[in-house]
Amino acid sequence: MMQNQTSPTPKGQLEHRYDGIAKVTGKAKYAAEFTEPFAKKDLVYAYIVQSTIPSGSIASIDQKEAERAFGVIAVLTPFNAPQLTSAKPHNLSILQDTDVHYNGQPIAVVLATSLPFARHASRLLKIQYNPQPAKLNFMGRLDEARLPRQGGKEQPGTVRGDLAASMTKATVTVDETYITPIQNHNPMEPHATIAWWEGEKLNVYDATQYISGVKMSLSRILNLPLENVRVQCPYTGGGFGCKGTAWSHVVLAAMAAKIVQKPVKLVLERDQMFGPVGARPTTVNKIKIGADASGRIVGIQHDAVMHTSVMDEFVERSAGPSRMLYNSEANSATEKMVEMNLGMGTYMRAPGEAPGTAVLEIAMDELAHKLNMDPVQLRLVNYAETDPSRNRPFSSKHLRECYTQAADRFGWSKRNSQPRQTSDGHKLIGYGMATATYPANRSAATAIVRILPNGHAFVGCGTQDIGTGMYTIMAQTAAAALGLDPTLVEARLGDSMLPKAPVSGGSQSTASVLPAVDVAAKQAKLKLSQLAVQDSRSPLFNAKDTDLDTKDGRVFLKSNPSTGESFTALLTRNGSQSIEAEGSAQPAADRASMTTQSFGAVFAEVAVDKDTHMVQVRRVVGTYDIGTLVNNKTGLNQLVGGIVWGVGFALHEETVIDPVYGRTVNENFADYHVPVNADIGDIDVSVLNIPDTRFNPLGSRGIGEIGITGTAAAVANAIYNATGKRVRNYPITPDKIMQA
Ligand code: MOS
Repeated sequence: MMQNQTSPTPKGQLEHRYDGIAKVTGKAKYAAEFTEPFAKKDLVYAYIVQSTIPSGSIASIDQKEAERAFGVIAVLTPFNAPQLTSAKPHNLSILQDTDVHYNGQPIAVVLATSLPFARHASRLLKIQYNPQPAKLNFMGRLDEARLPRQGGKEQPGTVRGDLAASMTKATVTVDETYITPIQNHNPMEPHATIAWWEGEKLNVYDATQYISGVKMSLSRILNLPLENVRVQCPYTGGGFGCKGTAWSHVVLAAMAAKIVQKPVKLVLERDQMFGPVGARPTTVNKIKIGADASGRIVGIQHDAVMHTSVMDEFVERSAGPSRMLYNSEANSATEKMVEMNLGMGTYMRAPGEAPGTAVLEIAMDELAHKLNMDPVQLRLVNYAETDPSRNRPFSSKHLRECYTQAADRFGWSKRNSQPRQTSDGHKLIGYGMATATYPANRSAATAIVRILPNGHAFVGCGTQDIGTGMYTIMAQTAAAALGLDPTLVEARLGDSMLPKAPVSGGSQSTASVLPAVDVAAKQAKLKLSQLAVQDSRSPLFNAKDTDLDTKDGRVFLKSNPSTGESFTALLTRNGSQSIEAEGSAQPAADRASMTTQSFGAVFAEVAVDKDTHMVQVRRVVGTYDIGTLVNNKTGLNQLVGGIVWGVGFALHEETVIDPVYGRTVNENFADYHVPVNADIGDIDVSVLNIPDTRFNPLGSRGIGEIGITGTAAAVANAIYNATGKRVRNYPITPDKIMQA
């Protein structure tokens, strides 16, 4: 049942990515690459101008010289941009006022006949500001932290049991503070939008994780009927959360296209990805865990403080895993925030759980060490059979098997539990482990399936493929339900004209879209069977439609498979019409009675240079309980990618803000470090592949985000095992190990 990277492709799965050839040959078009249906020569290029102060207002913009520059068509500023009638979204910088909330905020748009002309003219704007003191100190203002108050109501933390009373039973306590930095999303494809109008109808190609969301946002902000907006995005070059919502540039492109009456292309440059389009907030986590002598946890307290933008709140729920990952008699957790003059925070791969496991799982390692207990054993002693935070069962949980299998594949039994005892030449070697977890989400979705007279089929859904494999698994799922070879199915997505699907976020697309595809395909199969039994020329005439089945493009009698005919024969005889069906699926009715959650166990081996303290992650082994694995290649690839990002979380990634000017200092790939091939050793990924059919009929829980969780702490704990140095402040760079 278990599947890993070397398992053969199971029957019925597409072995290769549906969109693989289109991508490697350059045929797959990303948002910025479209030159149709408008005339390419008409394209107008937009360049976003960003504020150079972190707080205050714009006093004036002298744009005469910029407007005279060669190729310039228009310059939009808060002083001349159209006033929008709908409620002002105050966290979108769409030129509705002169306020400046952060350094890098979009404050003008230059439109020209080429990008270099637009960029050049942007330098000619003479902008005067009224600066105000900016809130840029975070660590010095932790005392100001306040509870979230989204929607006007204060959200208190969560409390279970009597923490103080339970803590008196503790014989061993860990009480430390753990820090995670600001991180910025950097998909290979930056944000990009092409907008054009056909009368009152707005069209956009947008790099997005949520075509329907962009459609709704544009309709609301520009006060257009929903049906007047069409959003297309056949391929998304990575998202990771930043493309889950429509940011300023999408609205600005649409606004500009209306003004110049031409198609407008707006692509963010790499440095513009640091600020206007969201970030993972920094978190400071005070964690206290008490356990009795047997290792049983009696209390967990986790108080997190994170930064939020002065514009609006975004809560990074880094205390989430501390609420539910382990049994404990008592639990108290809060998330509070400190306002800063920075761009908005937003969802970033495994929001909450990525930093949450990164910090909690170091604390667990510290506890294991103090108890002189094996870290895996400590987790087994405190295993949560049911969800302690909501006091309800899990739909399916097999974390115990993950620990056992991953430990086995890794060779955990060879670990020396005493730190700084193992070397390999000039390097100290260490083993570490951590638990991975991420919720299983699901939303309503609708899909359409057609059986074509040529024996092929079509499946369409208004979902997105953000590089994850949605094309592949849509085709595969339709094929399985229809009884067709998966290579004969055409898949379409990324167009808001197709039936609606949720955001490709929260790891929910597989669990949301595939059940809808399955329903639509089975409905189409039933219609095909009904056609056969009503057709006097069919060998299946007068049979019961429920007695029929399909396989390899044939419809036949279950009781006598040789009686039947091909889809092609049946359909061509009946006027060569396609058979079409739509299908919808939504979360299970009893969903509120259970917690749907994925789990995993991650083990890492590091080698740390005795002098330079450079860390090399030699091996990572991860075993995951994610329900049914739908496709080996696309599923396991996502877990590998998540682990790579987890290594980056542990060792590399950090957005550095200038303490005086508030601009991101390292807004480029030379200074904002992410792992490269040389940083990554052997990654061994496997999944239990145990279906969770209480969650959805296909048993799959989604796989996009759990891979990043757990990995950072496994690496951090391995560094401790190698060196005896405990670093509680990510990323774990050589200077921090040296000073620990
Ligand atoms: Mo993901 S951060 O939910 O796009």
